[in-house]
This record gives sequence, C-alpha cells and structure tokens, in this order.
Amino acid sequence: MCPFNYPDTCTGDPNRREENYEIDLHAYQSLNESRGYVVLMNLSIAGAGYVGLVTGACFAKLGNRVICMDIDEMKIDMINRGLSPLYEEGLGELLITYRDNIEATTDYGYALRNSDVTFICVGTPSKSDGSFDLSFVRAVAEEIGKQLKEKEEWHLVVVKSTVLPGTTRDVVLPIVEKHSGKRVGRDFGLAMNPEFLREGVAVKDFLEPDRIVIGCYDERSRDVLRALYKVFSCPIVETSLSAAEMIKYASNAFLATKISFINEIGNLCKRAGVDTYEVADGMGLDERIGRAFLDSGIGWGGSCFPKDLHALIAWAQELGENPRILERVVEVNDLQPLKIIELLKRHVPLLTGRVIGVFGLAFKPGTDDVRGSRALPIVKQLLEEGAIVKAYDPEAMENFKKLYPQIEYCSSAEDALSSDAVLILTRWEEFRKLDYKGKVVIDGRRLEEAKKAKIYEGVCW
Ligand SMILES: NC(=O)c1ccc[n+]([C@@H]2O[C@H](COP(=O)([O-])OP(=O)(O)OC[C@H]3O[C@@H](n4cnc5c(N)ncnc54)[C@H](O)[C@@H]3O)[C@@H](O)[C@H]2O)c1
Repeated sequence: MCPFNYPDTCTGDPNRREENYEIDLHAYQSLNESRGYVVLMNLSIAGAGYVGLVTGACFAKLGNRVICMDIDEMKIDMINRGLSPLYEEGLGELLITYRDNIEATTDYGYALRNSDVTFICVGTPSKSDGSFDLSFVRAVAEEIGKQLKEKEEWHLVVVKSTVLPGTTRDVVLPIVEKHSGKRVGRDFGLAMNPEFLREGVAVKDFLEPDRIVIGCYDERSRDVLRALYKVFSCPIVETSLSAAEMIKYASNAFLATKISFINEIGNLCKRAGVDTYEVADGMGLDERIGRAFLDSGIGWGGSCFPKDLHALIAWAQELGENPRILERVVEVNDLQPLKIIELLKRHVPLLTGRVIGVFGLAFKPGTDDVRGSRALPIVKQLLEEGAIVKAYDPEAMENFKKLYPQIEYCSSAEDALSSDAVLILTRWEEFRKLDYKGKVVIDGRRLEEAKKAKIYEGVCW
C-alpha cells in the first residue's frame, strides 16, 4: 500500500529504478528479491548544510525528487548550478549526476507545495551557557506551519537536526500546529529521524548506515518513513519521538567518552613509555570493547560532539542530575590539545619568534569544517606564546582564515615544512607523502611516515 494518496509516485515494480538510475546499493538486490514496492517521494529539506545537503543529494540518487531550502542565497545558487557549497567527498559528483532530481530554493511556499515530506536539517548550535540554541528549528517549524495552512494534502514533518528529548513533541509540534491551524496525527504527520553521518565520509555513511532510527508520532508517518528507507538493508529501529532524540545524544556522548578514555590512558602510557596504539589494538579485539574510537591523540572536535556534550550536560543539570562522567569527558578533551604544546616545548622551549608549521586545520580529514577543531586552541596558544604560525590544510584554510586571519597560510604542505618544528593536527592523506627527514615533528594524529623525522614525538605514544 502506498502511504500517500499519489499512486503515480508508487510503483509495484522494484526494477523501475534500475532502468533509470545507476544502482550500487546491495539494498536494491534484497528489495528485488523480496519483490516489495518502491515509493519515489517528493521531499523537501530545510537547511542545506552538511546534513541537509548530503541527505538531499543521497535521496536524489535513490530516485526521489528533492527540493533543498536554505536562507543562504549563495548556497542555493551553487546547488542549482550543480556545485557543492561545502567540501564533502562524493557530494559534488552526486549534485551533478542527479541534477534532474534535485533543486534548491529560498521559497518555503514552493518547496512545501511541491513535496510531501519535509526534513528539518538546520543547525542546533550551543549557546554560551552550553544549552542548545533552538532558534533555527523554531524558525523553520513556524515557516512550515504557515505553508501547511495553505496546503490541503497531508504532509509529513521530520526532525533530523539533533535536538534534546522532548523537543519534537514540545517545541516543533505546537509551533507547526499554531501556525498551520492543523492537527498533528490527522492533518500532518510528525517524526524524528536522527542523523549519524560523519563529516568526511558523510555520503558513504548516509548510503550505508549501521542503523536508521525513526521515532514517530503517528502510524502514517511511520509507514511513509518505512517506505522511504525500504531500500536500505540495515536495521531500522522504530521508537518514540523522545527515544529517537536521546539515541543520538547517547551515541555521541558514548563515542566522545571512548576517545577521552583512550586519551587519558594515552597520557599515562606516554609517561610510562608505552605505545597506546598497541594497547588499543589489544583492547579492541575484545568484542565487548571494539577497536573503533580508540585512536588516542589530541582529542575530539567537530560541529557535533562538543555542542552535543555541552547540551546534554546542561540538560542533565536542568533536570537535577549531576552528569559526572560527561563533565570529565569534556574536561579531558579540553586539556588534550595542549599536550602537543607541552611536548613541543621539550624541543623548542621558548616559542617567541619561532616558526611553527601547523599541519591540518579541519577537525578531521575529508572535510573543510573547522568547527571545534583542535587546531583552534593550539593556534591560540601558539600565538599567545609569541610563535609565528605557518599553517596548511588542503581544504579548510578558507574557513580557518575567517577566525585567524593573522597567521600565514601556505600554498603547499612542503611550504609549511620549512619551519622550526611541525605539529600534525589532522590526518590528511597527503601528509603521509612528505619528507620529514631532518625535521622536528610533534604528532597529534599518529602518522607513521612522520616517524622518520630527526626528532619525533607522538602525543600519546
Ligand atoms: N555535521 C554533522 O556531522 C552532523 C551529523 C549528524 C547530525 N548533525 C546535526 O544536524 C543538524 C545540522 O547540522 P549541519 O552540520 O548540517 O549544520 P550546518 O550549519 O552545516 O547547516 C545548517 C544550514 O541551515 C541553514 N539555515 C539556517 N536557518 C534556516 C532557515 N530558517 N531555513 C532554512 N535553512 C536555514 C543554514 O544556512 C545552513 O546552510 C544539527 O542539529 C547537527 O547537530 C550534524
């Protein structure tokens, strides 16, 4: 049964897509085997950032028609020209290849009239007190509500942004109802579908997820999302709205905890002359533990872990809980990047006037995102101590420049190598090809090739 009242968007022929699109997902094979029907949907995505644009481009690849909405006209213009406004591996190719299936607009009316499902993918940044800023989500919910007022057909609203438990039900729902004059569960559906993609490998993660979580207010919303995600072969976890919201926070908090844990062990190992990576390999073979997220270094960053941990802590305190573990996880992470300066000073005791090469500004390889990057506190500290910073990153220099215009940006990694000492802060592939002989290298990311340096120090090994 098609969950929409538009039979033309549904097909009983699972081979239909294969005629029109290049299919590389195993999921389609199992779909063929099960002879299930395929629903090609009309989707709109509010917020064309890392999550929204990747979601849109991947759904377009799967054959759906996608309209991206954003308030940033430059992004809209680029997407409509088949260009990606952000760097993410494979995203540019998807936007060109599936151009016929994806368009972008700043016009909510157009997007809502021409879609059956709207995903909310706007940012939920931290406020200065650590709590999370819901203003973008509220603004989008209001806009959706106003447009739904003009629309007769049932419509599904899906929150994909990371929001604290209760937000979809207590914030998004009443705003949409108020501005649309309609009733949830009757006139429109509501769901929460957290996103677990990792920047740098976001396209791959979206297309090959470990699991998909859908929390739904009503049955019809669940049917629509089941049909939309039917082509994926991973487990689909169906929960309440709030459990879906909490799964995202608990997952991020656990992963951040794992990294802070191994960094604490790593600091201990460094003092004791033990290689933490050997320890992690030995631990990781225990399937109760697992090897992932046990790479010690200078800590976690990015747009998600820091703000999600802070939001979770602030929320726990608001509820009268004392989140001791989470607070220590953040504390360990705040101190960890400065370990690299401590080690640098063993070899260059006075940083005033010394040229320090900074290799990597993105919070991880494969992205131009510098939000929460470990390079931020490190560059700040270097400048405070009077060092001359020469930085290089293959993708993130433009973004970093907006925050630190005063440092020198090199045109190549080789250029940044000619300094008194080099700090490796992001594990970009191209850093492996450099000749580190004769150099002083302090490594925050375990780059085997850099061990050939005249002086080499690993931060936790
Ligand atoms: N980046 C990640 O790796 C990641 C992973 C999983 C979940 N998330 C979550 O997904 C959400 C989005 O994160 P992101 O990294 O994609 O954010 P982002 O900042 O890259 O993108 C947000 C986009 O929303 C747009 N926007 C703001 N107000 C708008 C409005 N009223 N209407 C339409 N567009 C509007 C902005 O212009 C921007 O393009 C956050 O809640 C985040 O925590 C992010």
